[in-house]
Amino acid sequence: MENKISIEMKPIGYIETPYMGNAPFQPVEDDEQEFCIVLEPEYAQGLEKLSTFKYIYVLFYLDRIESNDKLLVSPSWSDKKDIGVFATRSPNRPNPIGLSIVSIKKIENNIIFISGIDVFDDTPVLDIKPYIQDLDNKPDANYGWVNQGSDASHLALHIKGIPHKH
Ligand SMILES: C[S@@+](CC[C@H](N)C(=O)[O-])C[C@H]1O[C@@H](n2cnc3c(N)ncnc32)[C@H](O)[C@@H]1O
Repeated sequence: MENKISIEMKPIGYIETPYMGNAPFQPVEDDEQEFCIVLEPEYAQGLEKLSTFKYIYVLFYLDRIESNDKLLVSPSWSDKKDIGVFATRSPNRPNPIGLSIVSIKKIENNIIFISGIDVFDDTPVLDIKPYIQDLDNKPDANYGWVNQGSDASHLALHIKGIPHKH
């Protein structure tokens, strides 16, 4: 498949987390450790009014992925079944972009202090957007393949990104 265009982006900042080689599968909101997004100072003006929101989307570049050449992946909770990569939140994807929703604790100059996020320390940030009530909330959303074969309590551990054994 020939790519029609190539896209070049540069990080607007970096995410500081306590996770060095291991991170949860999804954000752990009540992790009490310190998590923050340090924006490059040249973008700080773009944070104006962001603190009026409770939650933000953080889009980041998964700069330490192991591979991105498989279109079928087996997330640990898929019972070893192959799932199309675009039906998963696997970090190993053709364009290694991650998306997490976190809450804003406070903003000081170019630093956004946030709730727990599921990334390694020093992960590059591509974008930040406000999470807006109604616009971003789909009350009829479902679980897709994720709850086929799982009990509800086990499923909840995955949805909340809580590490556990299988
Ligand atoms: C399953 S992904 C989910 C990311 C995001 N919440 C999403 O749904 O797009 C989270 C995992 O990505 C991996 N990860 C975190 N930061 C990374 C980085 N900078 N480079 C490569 N992999 C990373 C960790 O193994 C973590 O458990």
